Amino acid sequence: MPKRNQTLGEFIIENQADFAYSSGELSRLINSIRLAAKVVNHEVNKAGLVDIIGAYGETNVQGEDQQKLDVMANETFIQTLTNREIVCGIASEENDDFITIPGSDGKHQNKYVVLIDPLDGSSNIDVNVSVGTIFSIYRRVTPIGTPATIEDFLQAGNNQVAAGYIIYGTSTMLVYTTGRGVNGFTLNPALGSWYLSHPDMKFPDTGKIYSINEGNYVHFPQGVKDYIKYCQEEKDDRPYTSRYIGSMVSDVHRNMIKGGIFIYPKSSTATNGKLRLLYECNPMAYLVEQAGGKATDGFRRILEIKPTELHQRTPIFCGSTKMVEKAEEFMAKYD
Ligand code: AHG
Ligand code: MN
Ligand code: MN
Ligand code: MN
Repeated sequence: MPKRNQTLGEFIIENQADFAYSSGELSRLINSIRLAAKVVNHEVNKAGLVDIIGAYGETNVQGEDQQKLDVMANETFIQTLTNREIVCGIASEENDDFITIPGSDGKHQNKYVVLIDPLDGSSNIDVNVSVGTIFSIYRRVTPIGTPATIEDFLQAGNNQVAAGYIIYGTSTMLVYTTGRGVNGFTLNPALGSWYLSHPDMKFPDTGKIYSINEGNYVHFPQGVKDYIKYCQEEKDDRPYTSRYIGSMVSDVHRNMIKGGIFIYPKSSTATNGKLRLLYECNPMAYLVEQAGGKATDGFRRILEIKPTELHQRTPIFCGSTKMVEKAEEFMAKYD
């Protein structure tokens, strides 16, 4: 049973049973992520003081202008995981291709791969609004002792052994799951330690918040347009409140605490939506389900999609179960 205010280090030790197959490897992996998160947190916190806001000057594989903090966060997570020799491969939103990590003995002995969105919510960096990091961890499917291949990364989300996010917000939190519920830890910046502040996080069954970029309304499928009108109708407990930060991590985190739905649908300009299945939707869907919520592409579970490409995108509807089911009813009318 998680104890409020225990440190993340204590929590990991007490919950070793979660990591049954790993002989400490997965625990060390989570430890590395919490360390990299502190480094990124430190940089994000002083962004206005040093020359680290603004564009980096290159375009990533997603077709987006990279921000300096995108690049810094990417390098920090990759270096931390590589130096500790705990994963056999890493794929990142910011890199064209995945990286294989042979380890210092060159024998490719490590069992896990990590997929990462190093900095989520790039457009919020320069304006001092919450950003995040999202990570997703799988056991490799290729034999230990061989280099990781694309097959290790193209696994369905329900194979994840752990996933989580860090939110660099009014306070910095690390929220993660190993498949036994979701726990949230708050960083005490004075001590550099994470404390269990949000044990066993659960989405309320329903809520009053809908989060979607309504500026794209004209491009949305009819089912989404009808659901938005439903949210705005004056009836029962509606109209709902509209809240959209523009960092998926922050929008989903708020909805998990207060109850709500987050939608990034497909549109006439983006036929698979915008968000990436492997770095954003799968890890968030795993967390959402572990917190008792629901995550679909409007029709089917996100976690059952078999990926075919590293940077594949998918529409996503996630959050409080009853709200997602209501949105799906509208989607089904036009299927
Ligand atoms: P990233 O900064 O990692 O590229 O992700 C941005 C994503 C996500 O965080 C957010 O929900 C969404 O983009 C916002 O997109 P719009 O500006 O199109 O609403
Ligand atoms: Mn990006
Ligand atoms: Mn993102
Ligand atoms: Mn990103």
